[in-house]
Parts: sequence; C-alpha cells; structure tokens
Amino acid sequence: MAEQLSATATRQGDFVFDPYSMEYALDPYPFYEWMRENAPVFHHREMDFYILSRYEDVWKAHRDAKIYSNAAGVTIERQENAGMILLGKDAPDHGWAKAMMTKVFSRERMEALDPFIRQRAVALLERAYEKHGPDGEWDMVTEFSVELPLYVISELLGIPEELRAEVHHQANKFLARGEGSTEDLQMEANVGLFGLFYGLVQERRENPKDDPVSLLIALELEDDEGVMHKLGDDEIAMRFLEMAIAGHETVAKAIPSGAMAMELFPAEKAKLGNDLSKIPQAVQEVLRFDPPSQLQGRCTTREVTLHGVTIPADKRVMLATGSATRDPRAFPNPDVFDIDRDSDSRTVFFGFGVHKCLGIHLAQREIAIAFEELFTRFPDWKVFPDRATRVAVTNVRGVAGLPIVLGKHA
Ligand code: HEM
Repeated sequence: MAEQLSATATRQGDFVFDPYSMEYALDPYPFYEWMRENAPVFHHREMDFYILSRYEDVWKAHRDAKIYSNAAGVTIERQENAGMILLGKDAPDHGWAKAMMTKVFSRERMEALDPFIRQRAVALLERAYEKHGPDGEWDMVTEFSVELPLYVISELLGIPEELRAEVHHQANKFLARGEGSTEDLQMEANVGLFGLFYGLVQERRENPKDDPVSLLIALELEDDEGVMHKLGDDEIAMRFLEMAIAGHETVAKAIPSGAMAMELFPAEKAKLGNDLSKIPQAVQEVLRFDPPSQLQGRCTTREVTLHGVTIPADKRVMLATGSATRDPRAFPNPDVFDIDRDSDSRTVFFGFGVHKCLGIHLAQREIAIAFEELFTRFPDWKVFPDRATRVAVTNVRGVAGLPIVLGKHA
C-alpha cells in the first residue's frame, strides 16, 4: 500500500518533500541537492508552488523584480496586505519607500553602533561567566544570541529606555517557537509591538527629537515621477515593526549557526582563534554555509520557462537561497566550511537586487563582534551541536537552543 503523505508533502518518484517537516528543518541540504540535480524548477503539486534551487537561477530571479513580484509576501503561504511592509512592495512604491529608510538608517548610523554592540556583547558574556563559571553549561541562544540583536535594534531604532523592556518582552514572545508558542501568541506580540511603535510615533509628532522616528516623521521624498511622499503614523510604526523583526531573528539564529559550524570544522575554529582578523570574512562563510533566511517567496507576473518547465503567471515561486549557497556550480566543495573561501560577490544570503537586505552592515558587525569577544575572553569556548534543539519553521533557519561552555577566562 502506498505510504500516506501529509497534506503539505509532495512526491516525485522516491523523493518526498514537506517544507513543514522536522526532517527538512533538521537538515534541508540533502533535499536541495536532490532538487538541484533532478528538478531545478521543482513543482510542489499539492500546494502548487515552485522552488528554484540553482545559484544562477536564484540570483537572476532576485534581480528580476518585474517577473518575480513581492506583492503576495515572501513566505510559502500567500499573504494579504503584504504591501504594508517594505519587503512586500513592488515598484514604483518600493523605490521611494526604501530610499526613505536608507536615508534614515544609513551606513554611518549603523557604523556608529560598533561600540554599543561590543559593550553589550561583553556584558552578556561576562554575565554568563559569572552565573555559570568556566565549566557550567548554558544556553547560547536564550542568554546571548537572542539578547544581543534585541539591544542593538532598540538602539538603532532609538527606542527610549523606558520602552525597551516591553519591546524585549513582545519580541521574545514573537520569536518563541516550539512548546507553548502559538500563532495567536505571535499575532498578539505583533499587535503589541505595533501599538508600542505607533504610540511612540504619536508622541514624537508632538515632541520631536533627534532620533529615527522624528527623522522619518519629518522626511519628504520626491519619486521619479516628481510626486512627493511623506509617511503616515501607521506606516512609520509598520516600518519599525519590520525592522525590529527582520533585524532580530536572523542575527539571533546566525550566531549559534556560526558557533556550530566552527565546532564541526575544528581546523577553521583554530585558525580563527589564532587570528581574529579573519573573523569578518568568516562571517560571510557562516552566512553562506547555513543562511538564516533560506527561502524567499515571489509571485510570477507572467509565464516563465526555465529548464524546460513552464511556470504560469500568478504562481508562487520560492527562491531557495539556502540551496544556492550550496550549489557546487557556484562554490567548489560547498558542504565544507572554509573561512578562506572568496565568496564576496555571491552574497545571495542577504538577497539581491531591489530587496537586498537593509541591515547588511549591521548584521555583519553584530555577528563579527560576538565572535571577536567570545574568542578574546574565552578562547576555549565549546558548543555541543549534537544537543542543539530545533523547531520546524520555514522562514528562518537556526537552532532554538545550543549548549555552550565558556572555559577559563583569558
Ligand atoms: C544575518 C542577518 C540577516 C540576514 C541573513 C538577512 C537576510 C535578508 C534577506 C535574504 C532579505 C531579502 C528578502 C527577499 O528578497 O525576499 C532581507 C531583507 C531585509 N532585511 Fe535583512 N537580514 C539580516 C539582518 C537584518 C537586519 C539587522 C536588519 C535591520 C536592521 C534587516 C532588515 C531588512 C529589511 C528592512 C529588509 C527588506 C528590504 C527590502 O524589501 O527592500 N535585516 N534580509
């Protein structure tokens, strides 16, 4: 008798794929390899979406926003109202909306956060050392990698001190996965964060300060057609909500993924310990090896034919960034974590084209500083990837828990 498949699974010959399965969450890479080699335009018939898995195809699709639209959101499930966030907008609105954000959240503003990131990273590591000592095991995710980006994003957005505990609480509720977390709780947290940011915008409209909220309130921008744009209170609150979530979960996942990659490739870990100047380039390799954002959804605006498969108009297409970065056509020995690899020009793990990540510089600095401080203060640190915990989520890949021991203080 044929094996019963779940409603979200599909089969092609012996190959079975369920994007919501634990098997895929634990290790997506064998699935991608099968797709790249056997069906580079993979059709999930039951859910009626397609996956592009080869580097070249993913890269080109990222750059072709005319054919691959973001208007139905970027998750496997189509989303109503996706256009309320920057990531869900298409041209022409995306152009001026992103230009506004880039003006306020400039590279200079992000660079200026370096000392703050370092100070928070040090405080969190020292707190863990005080609590657990050199030999005590603790959870790198809850006590370090979730906390650090949350402090940083609050600082970047200019959240006043008195609101930070509440932002912390709601963002953690939003990010909680597994036991006890439900979609309702996530939605509640989303609404809570929005309300908080909305209140802040209204307050700043009355009492402007030299902070990002006030800058966005005052900003007027002319688009290519000569039309002036200004953001309303709800739009500003929405931009803040998007930044808070996009800038938090990805970094929170990238730090433990990097620690695990280093542990699994001890020669690379040793190289880093001996030469901290290699850390920034190692961050690129961490993000290539195990990208936090694995799938970016699009919708075709017209029929497209690729590798002999015709995708009709208005179909969901997932760009599998997690597969692109392991494509041997683009990266020799892709399953090897190699910090000396030169992959700068192939950074699809931050997306590419018009929707390329707004927080690239900040994300890279947060991850690099986390490891610089870890190696400097606790050169014998060790994590235990075989005891990491994962939950099945399709939007962000990474562990929910990772045991770590710091070893002696340098
Ligand atoms: C390691 C950390 C991060 C990774 C891997 C990452 C990845 C990505 C990817 C792949 C996209 C494009 C999605 C698509 O095309 O569908 C994106 C967009 C975006 N990211 Fe990041 N991101 C990271 C950190 C951050 C941070 C720290 C911020 C904010 C400070 C941020 C803000 C955004 C925003 C606002 C967008 C939407 C840009 C647009 O639509 O034009 N991200 N990110």
